[in-house]
Amino acid sequence: MKPFVKWAGGKGQILGELLKRVPDTYGTYYEPFVGGGALYFALSPARAVLNDKNPHLMNAYSVIRDDVESLIRKLAEHEAAYRQTVPQSAYYYRVRSLKPWSLPPVERASWLIFLNRTCYNGLWRVNSEGVFNVPFGRYKNPRILDEANLREISALLQSVTLRCVDFEEVLEGAQAGDFVYLDPPYDPVSDTSRFTNYVDEGFGPKDQERLAGVFEALSRRGVLAMLSNSDTPLIRRLYARYEPEVVCAKRPINCRGDRRGVINELVIRNYRGGAIGR
Ligand SMILES: C[S@@+](CC[C@H](N)C(=O)[O-])C[C@H]1O[C@@H](n2cnc3c(N)ncnc32)[C@H](O)[C@@H]1O
Repeated sequence: MKPFVKWAGGKGQILGELLKRVPDTYGTYYEPFVGGGALYFALSPARAVLNDKNPHLMNAYSVIRDDVESLIRKLAEHEAAYRQTVPQSAYYYRVRSLKPWSLPPVERASWLIFLNRTCYNGLWRVNSEGVFNVPFGRYKNPRILDEANLREISALLQSVTLRCVDFEEVLEGAQAGDFVYLDPPYDPVSDTSRFTNYVDEGFGPKDQERLAGVFEALSRRGVLAMLSNSDTPLIRRLYARYEPEVVCAKRPINCRGDRRGVINELVIRNYRGGAIGR
């Protein structure tokens, strides 16, 4: 099973490093910034609470759970129309111009998955009015519909709670022994790499500080928590007492000439070998 969307900040690159650090046993799995859910799908836990502030993304999760066959039919229609339209970009821009809030749930889910598969780099970016504005991706033969994967995901999601709220709210229910994986929008390594418009309001230093406060509260409650973020002075300062571990991710962006394509990320945990706190 693999994510049904490509998501900016998707965890494919450091998945192995994260899997090594997941506790052996835990109660409910929480992912408050689920995005494409790379770690969730790799673990496929029986009990989970998944959340993201992006309403169109969470609508897609719930349609896959509750009405996967209708979604498969809609995506097959998109795929056929896309292949028949010349140029294909014309079909892309026609779908992009639809107003997602006016679409019923199945159409809105297929709108998101179709655009994600065919847009530039699988990016999600909206303008100040919340209108999706990523250009066409020019892929030769993008995979728009993966029926088998969608059906498997649907079966897995049957026992899952889906939410679409701020991360802080969803974590109120986490209890001692539960496991939380936090993958927030990254603290930018430089001003030019600032990429905070995953959701309309962005995610700035104040939110990073608020998140560190929530991480503390989880630790006090005995909830197992693991967080990934970029290696920046702010993140090192906020989580100093947890001794952040450095892991390397290959990225298509280059930060410094001598380390083209490799950036460091930090993984922060409030447990080691199953023991909570430090
Ligand atoms: C780095 S991405 C997560 C990527 C994910 N781990 C994956 O493998 O694809 C961060 C996600 O946080 C969501 N987000 C941003 N602000 C949020 C907030 N305040 N509460 C919950 N989710 C938020 C964004 O919509 C985005 O999908």
